[in-house]
Amino acid sequence: MIIHNLGDENSILNTFISEIRDKHIQKDAMRFRRNIERIGEVLGYEVSKELEYTVKNVTTPLGHKSMNLSQDQVVICSILRAGLPLHQGLLNYFDNAENGFISAFRKHEGDEDDFEVIVDYFAAPSLEGKVLILTDPMLATGRTLENVLEGLKKHGTPKQIHIVSVIGSQQGIDFIENIFPQNTHLWISAIDPELNARGYIIPGIGDAGDLAYGQK
Ligand code: URA
Repeated sequence: MIIHNLGDENSILNTFISEIRDKHIQKDAMRFRRNIERIGEVLGYEVSKELEYTVKNVTTPLGHKSMNLSQDQVVICSILRAGLPLHQGLLNYFDNAENGFISAFRKHEGDEDDFEVIVDYFAAPSLEGKVLILTDPMLATGRTLENVLEGLKKHGTPKQIHIVSVIGSQQGIDFIENIFPQNTHLWISAIDPELNARGYIIPGIGDAGDLAYGQK
């Protein structure tokens, strides 16, 4: 896997990440969603550099200009519900992207820390020969991505796979490295050191779905 940790560089991305982490600022759900969307835009711009480009001629009112443009068909697949703001950020840049949505949740037995990942809705177009962007805002254990990858196999073989994530744990990244093809790109804005017993990223941000969509 080719890992791009964009939080390692000094950029405006750090402001967005610090605001989604900050327990006082993250309470503003609208700002939280917008910050995740902006992270999606920044990461999407970076993904765009990996597409295939060909020279096209553009006619201006006063002449012509050759430009490198990409004809790649992009498919953005996101996991509901926390993936939605990240999905929107990517769509803001990839105007003609096709979309896939997967609903997955963690099922804990009683108070047990261990959980099963349940996938109960899966809608995705053909991926054959296309560029797949798979979003997982919180790459915690990597088990959701494992389930999603399994489900996507029936939809054909993409020519590129990009995972876009806001915050990941080192453990989750090590786990998915063994599952995805070696030339998969991971675009991430922070890697945190730990997971707690319930599989939450520490220090992380808390529950991204609740922060974006309301259950306080
Ligand atoms: N999902 C979240 O929303 N937060 C985590 O820390 C892990 C998974």
